[in-house]
Amino acid sequence: MTSGRQTPALYLSRVERRYPQGEGFLEVLRGANLAIWPGEIVALVAPSGTGKSTLLHLAGLLERPNGGEVYVNGQPTADLSDAERTRLRREDLGFVYQFHHLLPEFSAVENVVMPQLIRGLPREEATRRAEQLLTFLGLGRRLDHRPGELSGGEQQRVAIARAVANAPRLLLADEPTGNLDPHTAGHVFDMLVAIVRASRLAALIATHNLELAGRMDRQVTIRDGQVMTLSPTHS
Ligand SMILES: Nc1ncnc2c1ncn2[C@@H]1O[C@H](COP(=O)(O)OP(=O)(O)OP(=O)(O)O)[C@@H](O)[C@H]1O
Ligand SMILES: [Mg+2]
Repeated sequence: MTSGRQTPALYLSRVERRYPQGEGFLEVLRGANLAIWPGEIVALVAPSGTGKSTLLHLAGLLERPNGGEVYVNGQPTADLSDAERTRLRREDLGFVYQFHHLLPEFSAVENVVMPQLIRGLPREEATRRAEQLLTFLGLGRRLDHRPGELSGGEQQRVAIARAVANAPRLLLADEPTGNLDPHTAGHVFDMLVAIVRASRLAALIATHNLELAGRMDRQVTIRDGQVMTLSPTHS
């Protein structure tokens, strides 16, 4: 799927996901379609249990759909091996979890350096980039703090830095500000948007925060296992 010369950063085509439940199945996604274009920030707003995390896990190649296809930067992923999916995830995708999942025994800088080393960057270059990102996110004076020595909002900013450290094309975030107070949530969200805008990333961000959702380019929801647009694009 393309529009002009553009390829969507993410394209879900008739994606199905069901879980065994009793004698039958719980059908969470029933042929969901969604395209996200480079430079676009899309809010995923839907009630608890409707399938937001499920959809993000499929988009992030952490799970496989039962039907349909997930395209990342135009590349179909269903027939890829686990190793190929891991490589695509490492190179093209960044994931911010609701609870940051930082490595507790490593400093802020080391947490952001790690994915870059796995990608094969020299440590010096990885460290420079980590320090730049963390400084941009207002953590220049917390570089050597471990997660347990950081506030919730600071930890979440480290998680954002880690997710974008390898310059992904698509950022997926599952309620990245869900466990923060409204003021800190707004601040962390501003930082997230600044990073996305500065690097022309595409982003899909699940949130229960309608005020933050309203500041994104487009809002979508999940209804009856389908992705529906809540508002038209104003671009
Ligand atoms: N591994 C699983 N096995 C069985 N059912 C599951 C599994 N994972 C999720 N579900 C069910 O699928 C539905 C969608 O779950 P999901 O986590 O995607 O919801 P969500 O929209 O992210 O909700 P929340 O806003 O509470 O995070 C839920 O009803 C959940 O109980
Ligand atoms: Mg969820």
